[in-house]
Amino acid sequence: MTAVLLFGATGDLSRRMLLPSLYGLAVDGLLPATVRIVGTARSSLDDAAFRAMAAEALAPHVAAGLGDRSQADAFLGQLSYVPLDATDMSGYRRLAEAACGTGDCPEDQSISIFLSTAPSLFKPTIQGLAGAGLAGPNVRIGLEKPLGSDLASSAEINDAVAAAFTESQIFRIDHYLGKETVQNLLALRFANVLFEPLWRSDAISHVQITVAETVGLEGRVDFYDGAGALRDMVQNHMLQLLALVAMEPPSHFTATAVRDEKVKVLNSLRPIDSRSAATHSVTGQYAAGAVGGQPVKGYADELGRASGTETFVALKAHVDNWRWKGVPFYLRTGKRLAARKSEILIAFNDVPHSIFGDSVKGLQPNRLLISLQPQENIQLQLMSKVPGLSRGGISLRPVELDIAAKDAFADTRRRIAYEQLLLNLIEGRQTLFVRRDEVEAQWAFIDGIRKGWAENGQEPRPYTAGSWGPSAAIALIERDNASWND
Ligand code: BG6
Repeated sequence: MTAVLLFGATGDLSRRMLLPSLYGLAVDGLLPATVRIVGTARSSLDDAAFRAMAAEALAPHVAAGLGDRSQADAFLGQLSYVPLDATDMSGYRRLAEAACGTGDCPEDQSISIFLSTAPSLFKPTIQGLAGAGLAGPNVRIGLEKPLGSDLASSAEINDAVAAAFTESQIFRIDHYLGKETVQNLLALRFANVLFEPLWRSDAISHVQITVAETVGLEGRVDFYDGAGALRDMVQNHMLQLLALVAMEPPSHFTATAVRDEKVKVLNSLRPIDSRSAATHSVTGQYAAGAVGGQPVKGYADELGRASGTETFVALKAHVDNWRWKGVPFYLRTGKRLAARKSEILIAFNDVPHSIFGDSVKGLQPNRLLISLQPQENIQLQLMSKVPGLSRGGISLRPVELDIAAKDAFADTRRRIAYEQLLLNLIEGRQTLFVRRDEVEAQWAFIDGIRKGWAENGQEPRPYTAGSWGPSAAIALIERDNASWND
């Protein structure tokens, strides 16, 4: 029998993602009815109140056709709740009892713990779990970000977790790795022979990774103002995307092989320091504007005070190895931008010589666009002849080849990224989770940039909410004769 323990069970992530994801697994028969799902948080709820909260969280999914009322009721019956002050060691026994019944947890019972709590609670929580017998070899622990705010604090958290769990039990979550298209990127690169010979500086001029959001602070004032876009988005999601794009082919699709290749890329990132920060990075903070036709406040107004936190960042990064020599990786992310859009663009080189001559209009380099949001899709832009008669030359136009074949998989349910991640946590597969050395390489790169900003006194530039960020971010890429894919 298995139990799932959700820390932070009454929080936003739990309601929006974790409970619906577990329910999705239950509907698909991937979470046996015997699994106990124990929620815990500070709030003094009882089982009935927690189930009512969960019922509310599931309602839109049931209404959209995921399972039915009776399946939802059966799932709610698997839930229980234990209120816990994470710093009070005496409370963890009750949690163990809720997961395993009285007595010690039997070794054949696998327990998956999902921690989405404030970083300050990681240490006491790990101690409490270990003290209550919830850190044996049968336990796996999933850790949700933020795992620290720099290399030193992340190492402290990782040390605390490592004191009770081995690395093979630790599942560091980056929810971008659970996204369908991110996994499809691996299929594209390594299940096809076509791309690999071109996947290098010989054929690729640059790579763009954009994660643009239209939302603002969303009530996460305390967390976000202490973090900023670089730590909130680049340190994790964007560097993971970069690593998946840039890594060498792993020998197997296994946790060790894939993560070995990713960490090599992360360790090959050329540091951005005070000398290069001014030319290779741009930060911004949104000012009042309009998003989707609605007026919105500026960041400082939303926050209620002036702040030096960046809500936008653009970087020009390099992976210093043979494959990527001279290929810039442009990264940008921000809140309150013009559109919600996450994508990776692989921009190929011009053909070495145009046989069509200068008079022929329309010849453009190929592009591969991997879209994660709002639509999941992969498109290859190829040049084609415009149909019709021609005299003395042909007209060319880019056409898009739809590689993800959305329609071919139209009957497949679109899943929340956490469904894949929770399933892997419960079943013990680590490929889509981030290893300690990866996290630390990511922090080392980020800490260098922050140090550069501090030394240079680089402050975020204002940008109008609803725009694509400060104009300096446009200049960052246009200086190199390229432009963002807006
Ligand atoms: C989270 C960040 O990790 O990712 C948020 O903390 C951000 O600030 C979110 O909004 C974006 O995730 P997604 O899946 O909506 O692109």
